[in-house]
Amino acid sequence: MMEDKIAAIRAEIEENISSLELSAALYEFRKSFLDNKDGKISQLMKGMKDLPKEEKPAFGKLVNDLKTWAIDKFDEYNEKIKAKELEQKNKDEAIDVTMPGVKNEVGALHPDTMVIGELIDIFAGMGFEIYEGSEIENDYYNFTALNTPKDHPARDMQDTFYVSDDFLLRTQTSAGQIHVMENKKPPIKILSPGKVFRSDDDATHSPMFSQMEGLVVDRDISLADLQGMLDTFSERIFGEGIKTRLRPSYFPFTEPSVEVDVSCFACGGKGCKLCKGTGWIEVLGAGIVNRHVLENCGIDPDVYSGFAFGMGVERIAMLKYGINNIKALFESDTRFAEQFKN
Ligand code: DAH
Repeated sequence: MMEDKIAAIRAEIEENISSLELSAALYEFRKSFLDNKDGKISQLMKGMKDLPKEEKPAFGKLVNDLKTWAIDKFDEYNEKIKAKELEQKNKDEAIDVTMPGVKNEVGALHPDTMVIGELIDIFAGMGFEIYEGSEIENDYYNFTALNTPKDHPARDMQDTFYVSDDFLLRTQTSAGQIHVMENKKPPIKILSPGKVFRSDDDATHSPMFSQMEGLVVDRDISLADLQGMLDTFSERIFGEGIKTRLRPSYFPFTEPSVEVDVSCFACGGKGCKLCKGTGWIEVLGAGIVNRHVLENCGIDPDVYSGFAFGMGVERIAMLKYGINNIKALFESDTRFAEQFKN
């Protein structure tokens, strides 16, 4: 009777084991016989207690033999299945070394980044320190302290994005002039690159663009110092022989104010499409710092004077690289970017 049970278990294992193909299935099958609590072989062991005393040793031996045999059998199959599974895994993960590779394209610097880097190099070479202001300013720094109080008509020149009644996205890096002069006494010589924002959008204007601001304050600073510096700057950024000229203009924070033109680097000043036949190209605004601005920052205008200038980075980039629509600089089209690889 007991012997029949043993033979039946042995047969069950023999019959079914070869149809198992996954090690997980084999594990479950093995458990159904060898699990300490519910396994069929373990159950047999437990049944031994009901046998007459003299039959117990022989039966015990039979069950033990069965158990050893079963363990060997399961181990042997497990090895086989594992080997098969590994073979399959290697096949699935095989790498075809004859396949063409994926090319990693090398990127290019954005024209803005190149121009900003060049400008910083040029001005750092002349002893300017870099000051980076913040993109959110309050009304005082962006306008009032720059001699542009509320209701001043010059505020209309810059359509402002307001964040709240008092806070705004700076419309000009000139706001940085005030922070610098509040915190540092002359001599001051700073260059301030940064993003600015205006509600303005056409072929040459974008709601976000970059400016580069310069400020020099010391004793006896005059327009002649400004022009001398601009001559050096123009030759370095646009090429040797480029001249500058100053035209009278108006900014609330400078007096006098000037618009700065460089001689056309496309035609050498003869007149062409780029300079609209005039031989000159406007590149920046500048002037002598208005005495009210110095006073607002606690600097005595009877002792010190200064010049300031501000330029649009995209404008310089467009002139330098012959880009005719500012949108090209912000569309992230890789065909555009690729032209600036070197
Ligand atoms: N902030 C002026 C603008 O955005 C540019 C400018 C003009 C800056 C004259 C200056 C300056 O520092 O002196 O249009």
